[in-house]
Formats: sequence, structure tokens, C-alpha cells
Amino acid sequence: NKTWIKLVPVTDVPSEDVIAVEANGHEIALYGIEGQVFASDNICTHGHARLCDGFLDGHEIECPLHQGKFDIRSGKALCEPLTEDLRTYPVKVEEGYVFIEV
Ligand code: FES
Repeated sequence: NKTWIKLVPVTDVPSEDVIAVEANGHEIALYGIEGQVFASDNICTHGHARLCDGFLDGHEIECPLHQGKFDIRSGKALCEPLTEDLRTYPVKVEEGYVFIEV
């Protein structure tokens, strides 16, 4: 059963950058890219690093710990040392708020 969770006002999501928010005790990264919002888990699949502290380049987030890169549209792991893709979430914006489907 999937449900939509209301997160933050869309105006809180930075442009061409990433912030971390909490949803059900779980850290979610929200990315603002070219006016669109994307969401993924905030913790890297390789180790305990927070992607919100990483470097966003277009649709790629680079992990701050070992420079693994994910495409945040699909969650696909793009290079070593990553072996596992990142979980991403469908996003919608309604009445000025960001929702993710979990
Ligand atoms: Fe992210 Fe190692 S913890 S690449």
C-alpha cells in the first residue's frame, strides 16, 4: 500500500541544490533541478554518508565520502565504489507542498 507523505513547502527546496528532510523517521534528500523536485534516500548505499552533504551536478549527486555518483532520476549507481542503486520516490507538488509516495 503506497501513500503520499506531505513534506515541506516547495519554496524550501533550493534551486540546483539538495536538502535533507525527515519522513516517518527516515531521511529523505530533496533536489531542486531546473524547476523540478526529485526525492531519494539521503543515506548513501555504500556507507553512512549523507548525500545532502554531497555535490549536485545536473541530475547527478556525488557522495561526499568516496565520491560515488547516483543519477537521482532513477537512483542508478553510476560508478565505483557503489554496488547498489539508491531508492528514489515519486514526487508531486500540491498546494505549494512537496509530497513523496512511499
Ligand atoms: Fe557513499 Fe562510500 S559512502 S560512496
